[in-house]
Amino acid sequence: MAFENLLIENKGRIQYIIINRESKLNALNKATIAELHTAFADAFKNPEVGGVIITGAGQKAFVAGADIAEFASLDIKGGTELALLGHTTVFDFIENGKKPVIAAINGFALGGGLELAMACHIRIASDNAKMGLPEVSLGLIPGYGGTQRLTRLVGKGKALEMIMTADMITAPEALNLGLVNHVVSPEELLPKAEDLLNKILTRAPLAIAAAIKSVNDGTRDGVNGFGTEVKEFGKCFGTEDFKEGVAAFLGKRKAEFKGK
Ligand code: COA
Repeated sequence: MAFENLLIENKGRIQYIIINRESKLNALNKATIAELHTAFADAFKNPEVGGVIITGAGQKAFVAGADIAEFASLDIKGGTELALLGHTTVFDFIENGKKPVIAAINGFALGGGLELAMACHIRIASDNAKMGLPEVSLGLIPGYGGTQRLTRLVGKGKALEMIMTADMITAPEALNLGLVNHVVSPEELLPKAEDLLNKILTRAPLAIAAAIKSVNDGTRDGVNGFGTEVKEFGKCFGTEDFKEGVAAFLGKRKAEFKGK
């Protein structure tokens, strides 16, 4: 399917989703949010896609935030609806997807851009990337999950400092805080993301999905993540992949998982 604001590329079992509004530093307008939902829904459904790498077009930005030009006309109802739609159709949708998603942060990841990266399962940044949640300088707060996901990743004190100052931090600072998993040179960014994802894709897909669900449930209010882990662990024993994994180990050969 062709998109106006996204490029889709496939490399083996990896699907690239590239936000392609370079002249606006890949800012997320409503149309891009809608396309992201469609692109992720397609990737999660497509049996030929094992996982996704999301990045931004060009050298300068991953995503420089939600599209500020579209905010101008919104009222209380419109702002609430915008946030809710984003949460359900893109940010929570990615986080709760059954396939691994890696954000390759190739430049500015601000506001909705950092929130998008934080909804992914793993973040890798190029060493020239800058990250922040600058919404309070617009009279807003983060509305695509930033207050919650940043706090979970870096702790309450640092999250409040970043959100209240609106300051950007560098990639090495983000690494130090645990906001990103790895920092590499711009040339190494996509190869590093591919290496990591290709390694994950050699593992049992249903077990990967069960791990994502169990980890996510641990951060969910009113949900017992330990209970989810017990249930998901048990379910793994009913899979063909479990039998294959054990047989391969005992037979001293490489496992060939089918995601069944
Ligand atoms: N929404 C809409 N347009 C945006 C945007 C956003 N979040 N971020 C950048 N753009 C647009 C600019 O308006 C400009 O468009 P124009 O050429 O038509 O005027 C273009 O992208 C290039 O940005 P520019 O500001 O000229 O680049 P810069 O190198 O001087 O500054 C930033 C880069 C990232 C520091 C700056 O663009 C910025 O602060 N962006 C907003 C970040 C933000 O507050 N995000 C949170 C939104 S909730």
